[in-house]
Amino acid sequence: MNTNSHITSEKLALFNLQIEKNKKLPGPLMPTLHDAQHIFGYIPISIQKIISKELNESIAKINGVVTFYGNFSVVPKGKKTIGVCLGTACYVRGSQTIMDTLEDELKVKSGETTKDGEFTLCATRCVGACGLAPVFSIGEHIYGNASVTKTRQVLKEMKENKDEII
Ligand code: FES
Repeated sequence: MNTNSHITSEKLALFNLQIEKNKKLPGPLMPTLHDAQHIFGYIPISIQKIISKELNESIAKINGVVTFYGNFSVVPKGKKTIGVCLGTACYVRGSQTIMDTLEDELKVKSGETTKDGEFTLCATRCVGACGLAPVFSIGEHIYGNASVTKTRQVLKEMKENKDEII
């Protein structure tokens, strides 16, 4: 995937406007990172450098924040994010097996995006559906009582209906 295709001059112009607005805030870094993620879909090092210069923050600090929070990503995210809950309740009920199955099926590791740009796979903390453990999510939709068979089935349906909203 050509990651630079996500960063156009229009998006950069919009982002610069947002930075100027955010500079007036008491804590401009987090809103600026949210804007960057929203506008570009990810926050690569080239964008982190712009933020560093404009907000006078170190790259180390910015990169630390970007990599710590699950909302931010340093690589482009897929059209759909598949999250596997590795919270305690889900973990003890076998969510690691669900993660292994998805890694195997999608041929990516947790945190990566499939080559076709369709799916980003990630681990999540408790999503508040422990009664349905183990759970995984695709976009906003939660799939409970997940098994390897059910996970494969859902994924197969997703691949067959790529453009349908679930
Ligand atoms: S631990 Fe998975 S939903 Fe709570």
